[in-house]
Amino acid sequence: MSAKIVGIRGMNDLLPENTRIWSAIEAKARELFELYGYEEIRTPIVENSSLFTRGLGEVTDIVEKEMYSFTDKLNGQPLTLRPENTASVIRAVIEHNLIYNEPKKYWYFGPMFRHERPQKGRYRQFYQFGVEGIGYSGIEVEAEQIFMTKRFWNLLGLQKDKSPSLSLNCIGSKNEREKFKDCLVIFLNDNKDKLDEDSIRRLSRNPLRILDSKNSVTQEVLSQGPRIGDFLKVETLENFSQLCKLLDDKEIKYSINERLVRGLDYYNGIVFEWLSPLLGAQDAICGGGRYDSLMQSLGGKQADACGFALGMERIVNLVEEIGDIDYSRRLDVYLVNKGDEARRIAVLLAEQWRDVGISVKIDMTNVSLKAQMKRAAGSFARFVAVLTDLEVRDKCVNIRPLQKESVLTDKRKDRLESQQSVPLKKAGDYLLKCLMNEDVKS
Ligand code: HAM
Repeated sequence: MSAKIVGIRGMNDLLPENTRIWSAIEAKARELFELYGYEEIRTPIVENSSLFTRGLGEVTDIVEKEMYSFTDKLNGQPLTLRPENTASVIRAVIEHNLIYNEPKKYWYFGPMFRHERPQKGRYRQFYQFGVEGIGYSGIEVEAEQIFMTKRFWNLLGLQKDKSPSLSLNCIGSKNEREKFKDCLVIFLNDNKDKLDEDSIRRLSRNPLRILDSKNSVTQEVLSQGPRIGDFLKVETLENFSQLCKLLDDKEIKYSINERLVRGLDYYNGIVFEWLSPLLGAQDAICGGGRYDSLMQSLGGKQADACGFALGMERIVNLVEEIGDIDYSRRLDVYLVNKGDEARRIAVLLAEQWRDVGISVKIDMTNVSLKAQMKRAAGSFARFVAVLTDLEVRDKCVNIRPLQKESVLTDKRKDRLESQQSVPLKKAGDYLLKCLMNEDVKS
């Protein structure tokens, strides 16, 4: 026997038991984005590597060590599997001149790739929903995007007291940040002996990332250090407080975390994250913020912009734990059949039923009736229909509801009472009526 080929670590299959909840969440997300007038955009999974090295920043974790990059064998072009989608969307906006006459609001969904150490909630292929508002400078767009995420928690039926919490910060303009960065580096150099290895490495390359270190000693040191808020201009602070006021008016709770800097270099101004302690170490379910210079740094004209992305696997975990959405499977009829003529008629009969919107799964295994009935009982169908050559001869089909209890406890009497022999021609209408009655009851 040949050796088994297995999937790649950190890249998961989504089996039917997973895809139901995924599809239900995807449907809710589409509903949400449409509600806010965002339009869907799809960009390729592979891009020129320079898009990300330039767009996200050379000294970010993603660019330094997490990108799946390779050379196109045919033309030697350096390519990368997208680690995120903001840079790709902006590339497309520039390439197709999409904001030539007005700003645009886009949303996307799809897989992203980062070579991180896999653990619960952190994968190498993971999916994101994201939105980008391009060409907008006011804080209304931040406010709307935060309202949108909050509404999403409601659409997913997340228990209110356990739903994610919002963390906000303002990291100012490049200029404001440079001054803060200089002071931070001086302060941290004075305290270098107390810093962990990772922070020391970052000190010369990307000191702001030390702010969100998970090391408690480093955090203790930072609590004595300079604060970004002290380096922001009055207008910047005023802008930030306007957003806070809008959130207060909408009664959205938030906390201001001056150490929130985000892991990508394109941000400026207001940044935010939604966190859930229920997710363990990978607690960020959504992250975003303003990025006013990305368009220009990727070769486009200057355009202010703001967006966020939600981690789908983390949303799924949360919905499974504290959500309330319907992701039940739908199958109206399981069609059991036995005998040569019955098998032939079953295929045609199922088509007639599907014509009127009834979903049907035909048993195509030709095993014994008993075995087929057992499979029907274990399926998620609402009705079982039985067609043997005997029924075909009488031009009828036996139909009965598949109430799990009666099947499982094998109450023969109940079963026989609820069973109906229905003429083949009328079976479609009969099933439609039964399905409607069931819907009313439930
Ligand atoms: P990000 O914070 O890198 O931002 O990712 C957004 C979300 O994607 C995270 O909050 C998390 O839920 C999920 N995520 C990230 N990495 C992984 C992983 N390895 N496994 C599972 N989930 C993960 C961005 O990607 C920005 N493009 C967001 C943005 C859009 N900013 C402006 N516009």
